Amino acid sequence: MKILAGRAHTGLAERIAKAAGTELCGAEISQFPDGEIFVKITENIRGRDVYIVQPTSFPPNENLMELLIMIDAAKRASAKRITAVLPYYGYARQDRKDQPRVPITAKLVANLLVAAGTNRLLTMDLHAQQIQGFFDIPVDHLYAAPVIVKYLREKTPDNLVVVAPDTGGLKVAAAYADMLGAGVAVVGKERKSAEDVEATHLVGDVKGCNAVLVDDITSTAGTLVAAANLLVEAGAASIRAAVSHSLLNEKGVAKLNASPIEELVVTDSVPSRCDTGNKVKVLSVAELLADAVCRIQNDRSVTSLFNIT
Ligand code: R5P
Repeated sequence: MKILAGRAHTGLAERIAKAAGTELCGAEISQFPDGEIFVKITENIRGRDVYIVQPTSFPPNENLMELLIMIDAAKRASAKRITAVLPYYGYARQDRKDQPRVPITAKLVANLLVAAGTNRLLTMDLHAQQIQGFFDIPVDHLYAAPVIVKYLREKTPDNLVVVAPDTGGLKVAAAYADMLGAGVAVVGKERKSAEDVEATHLVGDVKGCNAVLVDDITSTAGTLVAAANLLVEAGAASIRAAVSHSLLNEKGVAKLNASPIEELVVTDSVPSRCDTGNKVKVLSVAELLADAVCRIQNDRSVTSLFNIT
């Protein structure tokens, strides 16, 4: 097999290759003065299984286009099978037509990946599980939960309650609560704009409990901080948060630092956009992804990767 890295997160791609016992496949990626991207794979990949690692995080359009060009290059270089490895699948939040005249961009991205030549997708913590159905090729969908739960078990105090910061996250919060032997609560959220979130209701008892907010993405930190403020009002003893994909910029980090959240646990599915300060703990999912790559390569089950040890 060959593991290729786009420029979105070469650090993670290197860690995946190392954990898989190999090195990154040679490739040159450059940009013309007008912004067009050029890719040249510098090793023979004829007849190989090629894994292209590229989270489509910030800047999403640039990273997505680069991925599509890499897939095209691999296809034209006669790769046998191309697996797009998206530790973070950007545009996943645009997964339904819930207003008139809006796109379903998560489906458009799926169409683009397949049209470019993707034979298989490996991804992690999709915003909605149903996005798997946008593909008619095999999709392996991993969860960061085994990595995050292991850390939380070691670091968090007893008397835990896992809190979903919006109703969409309730199922995931309930799964975390189950794994941690904790209670569960949910916050009702109203999004006023992309940057303005209001936490309106809290369902569940958090008084005197150590709360852990869990979510798939944090972008402006608005959702987490609004929920945390409500938890303080409801008498939570301490508040932590755990999120699979951190898209935080400096403004988001400042908001987090000024909030009652003591610690935010994230993964390295996407690179940090800025200095994330003292509150953010980054856990690596490189071994998890490498294990998945090796299992796919050897036609072995990936189910055991969902187990919490
Ligand atoms: C939305 O449904 C997602 O699960 C996240 O809650 C949301 O994307 C977080 O965004 P922000 O940090 O900007 O509030």
